[in-house]
Amino acid sequence: MVKKSLSTPTTDFYFQGSFTYQFSALMNIPLLDLKPQLNELRDELATALLEAMDSTRYIMGPEVESLENEVAQYCTVAHGIGVSSGTDALLATLMALDIGHGDYVVTTPFSFFATMGVILRVGATPLFADIDPVTFNCDATQVEAVLAENRDKPIKAIIVVHLFGQCADMHHFRQLGARHNIDVIEDAAQAIGAEFPDTANGTTTWYKAGSLGDAGCFSFFPSKNLGAMGDGGMVVCREESLAHRLRLMRNHGAHPKYFHSLIGGNFRLDAMQAALLRVKFKHLEKWHAMRRQNAQVYNDLFTEAGTELPVITPQAIYQRCDNSATHNYHIYNQYVIRVERRDALRQHLRNNSVASEIYYPLGLHQQQCISHLNTATMPLPHTEKAADGSLALPIYPGLSRTMQEYVVEKIREFYR
Ligand SMILES: Cc1ncc(COP(=O)(O)O)c(C=O)c1O
Repeated sequence: MVKKSLSTPTTDFYFQGSFTYQFSALMNIPLLDLKPQLNELRDELATALLEAMDSTRYIMGPEVESLENEVAQYCTVAHGIGVSSGTDALLATLMALDIGHGDYVVTTPFSFFATMGVILRVGATPLFADIDPVTFNCDATQVEAVLAENRDKPIKAIIVVHLFGQCADMHHFRQLGARHNIDVIEDAAQAIGAEFPDTANGTTTWYKAGSLGDAGCFSFFPSKNLGAMGDGGMVVCREESLAHRLRLMRNHGAHPKYFHSLIGGNFRLDAMQAALLRVKFKHLEKWHAMRRQNAQVYNDLFTEAGTELPVITPQAIYQRCDNSATHNYHIYNQYVIRVERRDALRQHLRNNSVASEIYYPLGLHQQQCISHLNTATMPLPHTEKAADGSLALPIYPGLSRTMQEYVVEKIREFYR
């Protein structure tokens, strides 16, 4: 362990004399380290796993049901339906909403592949609307324009992605859904616990991601703020009829057993994963707070580094101030900066043992698997700019201030 304060580190200092080994060992900074979380909860997690094992209820059962109720309550909605992944949450939702061949779904071109993949898998066609250049989220005005341009097509839904852990403008999307009579599906895979303010009659209420659309889809992929030890996901919704169809969909459309009223799939959440997730769920708010704290440290360090550094830090759009504090509703599943000469910077960080990631190097409209749709040359300038210049830095709970100082110092060094 380093025993000295490194609040104003210099490159020379890092590699001097007897400090060399200690620092190189410490300053190997991964994009995500789950060990601090695991160390904190090891005993609790092991107990939960053993109990789930001894119960011999491996498919569905009380752990899955309890997690569903807890997540639904957290999101203040009536229903939670545990499923096998975030991808399957989206897929089951499209299937439950009867979206398929010949239908169209409007979405963002700047997301993980699953957002578009599920549209294609049910036989529907994606229509892309450009993103907001500040938040990287779906831009409701662009979506509105796409809806207007494609009036002649059977558009069934909008999939809104709350990218990197910050809500998109759900107020506007709900209005669009109501006006055009189409479903609004929230891809909240990266955003469990993020909040959005909605003001009615002068009163502002804060809503959790996933609770404002017709359905909200979460991923419990290990790198998410609430991550399983494998795959998992959940759909939340308010309407009983949709929840009923989703429960059927995740289990081959069967009820009772062996009587299939719908063609579904095996999209069930494992009981073992549910048991682990219930332990972790109790710590979620604390982990959100730690990520917010890390984001603030980066913001401050980049501000100190000065305006000549070509780095744009992420903006938390939704904040609430009361007398004593500012509350930030971004959950920072990723801390994504925009930079110049991104690929060279990434290589420089890699050379200094700092991991980073590009979310996402290519817009969905340019993916080879949809070349038949001829979307690659669509004018989506904000998406293309984001794909060329964005870089995610480590932000996980347990990342130390010293590590963050090192990351920022290495970025400064690159642009010097
Ligand atoms: C925006 C988005 N949608 C969907 C998914 C799919 O989730 P999963 O990996 O659990 O299938 C992810 C996962 O990374 C995602 O980031």
